[in-house]
Amino acid sequence: MNNCLSSSVQKEIKQKTSFLAELRRLYSSGDSSKWPKPILDPEAIPYFAEIGHLPEMQFPTDNPYSEDKALLGKTLFFDPRLSQSNQIACASCHDPELGWCDSRTFSFGHNRQIGIRNAMSILNAGYAKSLFWDGRATSLEHQSEMPIQDVREMNGHIDLAAGKIAKIKGYETLFEKAFGNKTVSKDRISKAIAAFERTVKSGTSRFDQFIDGKAEIYSDDELMGLHLFRTKAQCMNCHSSGYFSNNQFENIGTSLLGSKQEDLGRYLVTKRIEDAGKFRVPGLRETTRTGPWMHNGSMTTLTEVIRFYSRGNPEHSQQRSTVHQGITLSSEKSGFVRLLDLSDEEISQLEAFLRTLSTQPEKVSLPVLPQ
Ligand code: HEC
Ligand code: HEC
Repeated sequence: MNNCLSSSVQKEIKQKTSFLAELRRLYSSGDSSKWPKPILDPEAIPYFAEIGHLPEMQFPTDNPYSEDKALLGKTLFFDPRLSQSNQIACASCHDPELGWCDSRTFSFGHNRQIGIRNAMSILNAGYAKSLFWDGRATSLEHQSEMPIQDVREMNGHIDLAAGKIAKIKGYETLFEKAFGNKTVSKDRISKAIAAFERTVKSGTSRFDQFIDGKAEIYSDDELMGLHLFRTKAQCMNCHSSGYFSNNQFENIGTSLLGSKQEDLGRYLVTKRIEDAGKFRVPGLRETTRTGPWMHNGSMTTLTEVIRFYSRGNPEHSQQRSTVHQGITLSSEKSGFVRLLDLSDEEISQLEAFLRTLSTQPEKVSLPVLPQ
């Protein structure tokens, strides 16, 4: 067979094979300082940390971890009685079997009303510095009150919800074990749910195993995908660290300003003109399990997501400005989003790499709801 190939083709194959072998050796060396240098824009460097394992989960000093507290939080998370109708639990939209989200473009909640954003997974949410696509909650403790009160979600009031939970006899021992006495308060409900959410995190992925030295576990495509992610495709300008997000807000041109589906994103929180159309950079661990993708669930395959980046997202000019409460806002795409011109092969290699960041869905035992 070799005789049929011209010597230049043979040389090319040899070079490619030794290039891949070298990449494999470096990336699986267990020492990321030996990896090839990433391609980063200077503006990205202040927020950059190399990709790698997830760090230990940090629990805030005013809400430390205990097994009993996490169990109480888990029970509340699955309890529909936190909602006004007694029918919608946090887990209705954050279903462990669906990657802790709901596989829908938009969630539906109270009275099957449709929400306006794609549900985020709570997997690894403990690593996010602010919560929601626009970062409007500053901690998981702060976040958990919001869906209970949201008219489209659970349509309740946190005080009423706390009152209802206080009347359920079976909760007494759970609160006592978690907090030392039976008192039910909204503050304790938030703390318990947050403590539980911090336990919902990814286990060891194939990526983690590969960089720890299991060199043979990656296919050539997965290996090239990892290399592209760090270099030519420039994903690490935003998706960096073990959480695969730099926890910043960025505009990648998805806000559809001026259209019916417009979403001002971070602007709604800060009211700073430059934040129009920015969203929190989501972590990419488990991303294959949390589609459809983006704040509005507008992309239904990962190939579509990567193609969008490859084209540098030529946003249509008619979808770039709007007038909101008398203020003209326009969407200014991040300079990090630019034409990458990836080949079809490179696009599928990137996707193959993203798949190695997901783990098998864990079996979650459902809590017994107290009576
Ligand atoms: C009706 C569906 C629905 C229900 C019920 C619901 N959520 Fe959500 N959740 C969402 C949607 C949609 C988002 C994204 C919303 C946004 O960014 O504006 C979200 C976002 C979140 C986030 C942010 C994750 C991140 O990475 O920033 C957390 C945490 C969360 N929900 C926890 C909860 C908890 C706790 C409850 C119960 C008290 C709950 N959710 C109830 C739909 C729901
Ligand atoms: C300028 C910063 C930036 C760069 C560069 C970037 N991303 Fe993103 N990425 C984001 C933001 C912000 C979002 C969320 C946007 C939204 O919801 O509308 C996102 C969303 C995603 C999602 C969807 C996640 C979800 O949960 O819905 C995937 C997958 C993704 N990016 C992969 C990549 C890949 C692969 C690259 C490299 C080709 C890349 N990104 C480059 C900022 C960036």
